[in-house]
Amino acid sequence: MAKETQLQVEAIKNGTVIDHIPANVGFKVLKLFKMHKTNQRVTVGLNLPSSALGAKDLIKIENIFISEEQASQLALYAPQATVNQIENYEVVKKLNLALPEQINAVFKCPNSNCISHGEPVDSSFKVITKKEDIQLKCKYCEKVFSREIVTESN
Ligand code: CTP
Ligand code: ZN
Repeated sequence: MAKETQLQVEAIKNGTVIDHIPANVGFKVLKLFKMHKTNQRVTVGLNLPSSALGAKDLIKIENIFISEEQASQLALYAPQATVNQIENYEVVKKLNLALPEQINAVFKCPNSNCISHGEPVDSSFKVITKKEDIQLKCKYCEKVFSREIVTESN
């Protein structure tokens, strides 16, 4: 069996496999989906060898299927990740990650003076894409931040 075809983390029966996460982003994805708070079995592979990425992170969550909304949040962290739905050991669906037009109530605004911090309102950003770059514009202070600034400061 070629090395690439061997499973690096045990196969699961039912649930979600998020594959091809860039190395070092896996932790953030775990935190984003609060996977440490689930009762289900979560297996994580960090810095696994990958022919496409060099190194990758991989997350398997048993008995949980991520929603389209969660998939669009994931797109912000790892646009090239693959989300596989597993049923009875078979891959039954691969979700395409698409960037959302807006992202609400997920990230705090990095601008400490932003009015959204003092108000009981949900944060809201418009997603702006310029070629490879992804930027987020806060609905409240109208400042524009790179995707990295927003995800790092949360
Ligand atoms: N997987 C798993 N448990 C299963 C079936 C698959 O954990 N019962 C994992 C595989 O290890 C892989 C991912 O789910 O990480 C996708 O499986 P598959 O589509 O068979 O692999 P690839 O063809 O390599 O997928 P792709 O090239 O689309 O990433
Ligand atoms: Zn703001």
